[in-house]
Amino acid sequence: MYDTLRQHYRDQFQGEPDLCVRAPGRINLIGEHTDYNEGFVLPAAIDKSVYFAVGARTDTRCHFFALDLGAHFSADLQALQRSDTHPWANYLMGVLQQLQETYPETAAQMQGINLVFAADLPSGAGLSSSAAIENGVGFAVNELFGLGLSRMQLLQISRQAENRFVGMNCGIMDMFVSMMGQENQFLKIDCRDLSFEYIPFEAPDMRLVLCDTTVKHALVDSEYNTRRAECEEGVDLLRAFDPTIRHLREVSLSLLELHRADLRPVVYRRCLYVIEEIARVEAACQALQNQDFAELGRLMYATHAGLSGLYEVSCPELDFLVAFARERAGVLGARMMGGGFGGCTLNLLYAADVEGFILQAKIAFQARFGKDMPCYVVRPGSGVAMSDE
Ligand code: GLA
Repeated sequence: MYDTLRQHYRDQFQGEPDLCVRAPGRINLIGEHTDYNEGFVLPAAIDKSVYFAVGARTDTRCHFFALDLGAHFSADLQALQRSDTHPWANYLMGVLQQLQETYPETAAQMQGINLVFAADLPSGAGLSSSAAIENGVGFAVNELFGLGLSRMQLLQISRQAENRFVGMNCGIMDMFVSMMGQENQFLKIDCRDLSFEYIPFEAPDMRLVLCDTTVKHALVDSEYNTRRAECEEGVDLLRAFDPTIRHLREVSLSLLELHRADLRPVVYRRCLYVIEEIARVEAACQALQNQDFAELGRLMYATHAGLSGLYEVSCPELDFLVAFARERAGVLGARMMGGGFGGCTLNLLYAADVEGFILQAKIAFQARFGKDMPCYVVRPGSGVAMSDE
């Protein structure tokens, strides 16, 4: 991949790149829609990434080339503006802009850049290619101009870029794990204080398989924001009974049940899901530590039931695939993953059953929805890194 990128860099910019960087996508084992409720999540970076070749310029121009799209974009570092025609460029510009806004003195060392990027991580599949692009460019310019920012600072810049420049009000999970991931480890993140702990995935005979519905709901961003608002509505009401409550993280199941009648039914359902899901993350960490994959799988199915029935962010394709997985021998758990309304299911199964499962799932999906379904076997991999090639 890096050889191809370097070649295209030379063709585009008549010189050698100063550095190459890899930024991975992510899966999330459990803990969905809990990050913005300040709960726990349990994601991992994966062995599929976005790759960059980057060089410093002596002026303030920024030239980007998206190899997979064959698309160019240019802007001036001092006048970065959101683009409607090149949405992918917003992830790059957002980071450069937020670096300058958050760290004006440090960022004064920045110059323009030439950048080529390409991915073996599918985009639009709910695997956080946007967080990977943000983390990759932040990491690259931090190295290139010696900004001296930590990984923690860089991932927060990525999140600001997404929230303030791109305009997607996401939580911190995606950029966090893409930056901090490690080989064969899940990352338990406490989204309240951003402390984290690695939980090993020691399971040579187990595999993680993604089934990509290739569905992307047009309303996904607005539905996401509606869910956030419903959670906040619940918190605001429950705070009347306990003033220490700031987020659903602080709400117990018993308090919620006590005040069920005070909440709109839809708000009650959203809160119930989130409170149960936060507890499931703790249970899943325990199961992983005990190597109890049957229990882990059971928790994944329970998460899917909650996301589908209570949080209402599933879709027929995702429900179909989870129901299909349930009937298959060798599959221990399955659930929809990420924000919802499309994207992938995550399946936990025995290595010996992977081939048969993928084959049968593709046939069933084709028969039901009339289209091909890409599948990926993934494993927890390391976070953003300089190329060692
Ligand atoms: C998207 C967001 C994350 C998280 C998930 C749901 O991936 O980017 O911050 O909220 O949805 O768990």
